[in-house]
Amino acid sequence: MWKNKMVLVTGGASFIGSHLVDTLLERGAIVRVADDFSSGKLSNLEYKLKRDSAGAWVSNNLTVWQGNLKERSFTRRMMEDIDVVFHLAALHGGRGYIDTHPAQCCTNMILDQLVFEEAFKAEIDRVCFASSACVYPSYLQEETGSSYLLKEEDADPFVRDKAFADLEYGWAKLMGEMALKAYHRQYGMKTSSVRIFTAYGPRENETHAIIALIAKAFVKMDPFVIWGTGEQDRNFTYVQDIVDAMILAAEKIEDGTPVNAGRDDRITINQAAELVFDIVGWKPKDIKHDLSKPQGVASRAADLTRARRILGWEPKFSYKEGFEKAVEWYFANKSIEEVKINLEKLLMER
Ligand SMILES: NC(=O)c1ccc[n+]([C@@H]2O[C@H](COP(=O)([O-])OP(=O)(O)OC[C@H]3O[C@@H](n4cnc5c(N)ncnc54)[C@H](O)[C@@H]3O)[C@@H](O)[C@H]2O)c1
Repeated sequence: MWKNKMVLVTGGASFIGSHLVDTLLERGAIVRVADDFSSGKLSNLEYKLKRDSAGAWVSNNLTVWQGNLKERSFTRRMMEDIDVVFHLAALHGGRGYIDTHPAQCCTNMILDQLVFEEAFKAEIDRVCFASSACVYPSYLQEETGSSYLLKEEDADPFVRDKAFADLEYGWAKLMGEMALKAYHRQYGMKTSSVRIFTAYGPRENETHAIIALIAKAFVKMDPFVIWGTGEQDRNFTYVQDIVDAMILAAEKIEDGTPVNAGRDDRITINQAAELVFDIVGWKPKDIKHDLSKPQGVASRAADLTRARRILGWEPKFSYKEGFEKAVEWYFANKSIEEVKINLEKLLMER
């Protein structure tokens, strides 16, 4: 399906976006990235990019444009001759960011609606949206040590008492999903939404839990600070698994049905920290739990019934494999001095 397809990846210079671009290029697609580099980085696209006379960066089948997708003329230009859109551009970060930047997260609603409207006008064949586990009601995730698996029907804006998203960020994602269903219902546009659960891996920033733990181990923070009790658990999912789910969703879902991309097993933050210590071969003498910091919901994991049935997908990377890859990347690419000086800011700012 992907050979010579013209694919736009909004936010393609981001952590997940750049891995998606890599996989699409491997499959033979011709990829255009549109990103304002507000958190994405050109260096995440590890190709020999050259600036052309029009101002884009180009390398073989990849073209990268810098611009703000909240500006309609730029968005419209990005849609020209495109077959498939993966929409990842968003103001987003880890818990520290979304807790303290509610107004910024609300602006995602403008961005999403503009991208979808311009995609429709340009008669784009398929649109796949990077949604989030934050669409799920936080009250289903409040019990420490829970075994509850979040099912797609637990967050449905059209079923009474089934919509109660996690913060403004989660509501904005749910409204994005709702719009894509509407475009399908009214115009037949082929759409899909992938509910991404706590992705991690190379190129992610320190506002997310696993990279934050790795950064603190990198600078040998001691006492080692963990946000909250550390007994909150998550189903951390390796980025390549997320990318595979998004590509399958774009191939197989046409009616806007949302689908989970995450794991159905979970580990606590304390266990994640122990795994990081094992991999880096260093352990702090003292661990402190900072209860004043945001820690998000108590427990979160995904039901994979729909993903298995519709996509034939499940995560392939174990926690150990994924953590090793993330540590290897972090240690090879960061400078201890720089991380040490900027750590507090890195943990909060996207
Ligand atoms: N990382 C996760 O665990 C996770 C979980 C759920 C959903 N998501 C979603 O996946 C997508 C990618 O997230 P990520 O974690 O890879 O990194 P990210 O949040 O840094 O990605 C967002 C990208 O969008 C770009 N961007 C923001 N505003 C823009 C604008 N107005 N115009 C053009 N570009 C703009 C940024 O520069 C960045 O490259 C986001 O939509 C995010 O909400 C991520």
